[in-house]
Amino acid sequence: FACANFPKPSFSPREVFLCLEMAVFTQSISPNAEGIRAAVALLKAGQCVAVPSETVYGLAANALDAVACRRIFEIKGRPLIDPLIVHCADLASALHYASFSPQAKALAAAFWPGPLTLVLPKTNLIPDLVTAGLPSVALRVPSRQVFRDLLSALPFPLAAPSANPFGYVSPTRAEHVLQTLSGRLPAVIDDGPCQHGVESTIVDLRVPSAPRLLRPGPISRQAIEAILKTKLPSALPPHLEQTAAQPAPGLLLTHYSPRTKLILHPEGMLKSAELAQTDKVARVYWRRPTEPIQDEATFWLSEDGNEVSAAAKLFDLLQVLDRGQYTALHLETAPDSAGLSEAINDRLARAAAKR
Ligand code: TXA
Ligand code: MG
Repeated sequence: FACANFPKPSFSPREVFLCLEMAVFTQSISPNAEGIRAAVALLKAGQCVAVPSETVYGLAANALDAVACRRIFEIKGRPLIDPLIVHCADLASALHYASFSPQAKALAAAFWPGPLTLVLPKTNLIPDLVTAGLPSVALRVPSRQVFRDLLSALPFPLAAPSANPFGYVSPTRAEHVLQTLSGRLPAVIDDGPCQHGVESTIVDLRVPSAPRLLRPGPISRQAIEAILKTKLPSALPPHLEQTAAQPAPGLLLTHYSPRTKLILHPEGMLKSAELAQTDKVARVYWRRPTEPIQDEATFWLSEDGNEVSAAAKLFDLLQVLDRGQYTALHLETAPDSAGLSEAINDRLARAAAKR
C-alpha cells in the first residue's frame, strides 16, 4: 500500500484506516484547503490530529466519539481521571453541550472566540470519558483561523488537550509535537508558532454564585472579574489538587516539566557569578541583560520585560534548553503577579515542582 502521498483528501475512511495501520511516521500537513480536507478525513475516520490553536498545539479527536477520544489518552499517556477540553465552532454550537448561565453567556460574548475555557454543567451528548465521569464539561471556542476552519468543516466538536506527553512542556510549534509524539499519531497541521504560548484561562462556572479561576491564562483574572463584576477567589492550594476527587482534575502541582532540573529566581536575583562554573547550567533572565553577554548559556524571555512576548517564548525555550545537555536551568520569574504574568508564574512553579 503506497503511503507516499498520504494523507490524500480523496481517501475513503477505509483507505485512511489501512494507511494508518502502516504509518510509521507522523505527517506534517499544510494549513491550506487541501490540508484541512485531509485533517477532516482523518478526524471523521475517528483518528487524532494535532491542531494549532492560538494558545498551544492541541491533540484533537471527535469529542462525541468515546473510542476516538480514548486514543488521545493513549497517545499522551494521560490518566483517564484528567478530563478534556471540548472545542466548538461558535457559541451556537457550544449551547448543545452545556447549560449556560447568564454569567457564562456574558463571558462567552466578551472573550469567544479566544483563549477562555468555561466549565459548565454538561448535556448528555458529551461522553463520560471526555469529562472523566464529571457532570460538567470544559468548553472553548478557539480563535485561530485554521482551527476554526477545521471546526466549521466538521459535524462534531473536537476534544483536545495539549499535544504533549502527559506532564511534559506544552507544544507551541509543530516541531515540538513531532519531537515528542512522532509515530504515535497520523498527522499534525503545521501553522507555525502559537500567538499566546500558554494554555487558555479556565473559569469554573458550575456553581453560578461561586465562580472560580481554575487556571490562569491569556485572559487575565482582572478581565474576567470586570465582566462578572465580582472578585474571583485564588486557585486552590496545590496540595489540595493532587487527588482523584479534586474539583479541578488535571491541575497537578507537577506539570509542564522539562526533564532537566529547573531552579526559579525572582526577577533581578539571578546572579551568574553565584552559579558553579563547573556545571553546565543555563541562565534565563526575565529581560535581556544590559551588560554584554560573554557566554552561550545565557538567555532571556523578553527583550524589554514584556509579558506577552515572554509567554510566547516560554515553552519553546524550555524545550530547546531541555535538549541542550544542561545539568540545570536557572530561570527568573515574572516580576508582576497580575495579568498574563500570573499564568507565566503558575506554569513556572508547576514546571519546577519536585516530582
Ligand atoms: O489552551 C488550551 O486550553 C489548550 C488548547 C489545546 O485548547 N488545551 C489544554 O488542555 O490546555 P489540557 O488538557 O492541557 O487542559 C485541560 C484541563 C484539565 O486538566 C482540567 O484541569 C480542566 O481542563 N478540565 C477539563 N474538563 C474539566 C471538567 N469537566 N471540570 C473541571 N476541569 C476540567
Ligand atoms: Mg496540558
